[in-house]
Amino acid sequence: MQIFLIGFMGSGKTHNAEKLSELIGWPFLDLDRYIEKKGGQSIAKLFEFGGEAQFRKIEQQALLEIIENKHEHIIATGGGTPIFFDNLEKMKSAGLVIYLDTSLDLIMNRIEHTAESRPLLKIGPGETLKNYVENLLNKRKEYYHKANIAIEVNQELDKPAETIAEYLSLIMPDKFSNADLE
Ligand code: S3P
Repeated sequence: MQIFLIGFMGSGKTHNAEKLSELIGWPFLDLDRYIEKKGGQSIAKLFEFGGEAQFRKIEQQALLEIIENKHEHIIATGGGTPIFFDNLEKMKSAGLVIYLDTSLDLIMNRIEHTAESRPLLKIGPGETLKNYVENLLNKRKEYYHKANIAIEVNQELDKPAETIAEYLSLIMPDKFSNADLE
């Protein structure tokens, strides 16, 4: 089985996948980095050359490869991964899908300074970044909430990886004992 972290850009997927990896001893993998390594190009360049539609196909292909080959991994997905094709159903069939339900304010704090380098956040004149992000987040929430579990993250002090590790030790005590988590 695999554990997938889903959520909006800046929700903390990569950071918490790394933390969870330390806590439960499973390797972690970042879908965007996997795509970049495989294609030898940055996500920004993939968007630039092939547009979003092409990127989504590459993303789907990479996800399917990972599902097939990387068992017992924690996977940090891209913010749009569960929105397209049947990616979400595929992830749910392969393991546990966890939504990091991070507040808009935290997301904004984290992405404000990196928006320029994020292909989806190039907004037009007359639009504010916050409005754009809020609209996109609201559209995506119905997909994100189809995850097996959702974890609210409202402040920087929250520790979703610890919460997930605790949850795993409760639902699968044989696999993730508390002792391993201490
Ligand atoms: C995207 C999020 C990005 C990356 C791509 C598209 C999205 O990943 O996959 O730019 O559609 O929200 P992160 O969520 O890791 O930033």
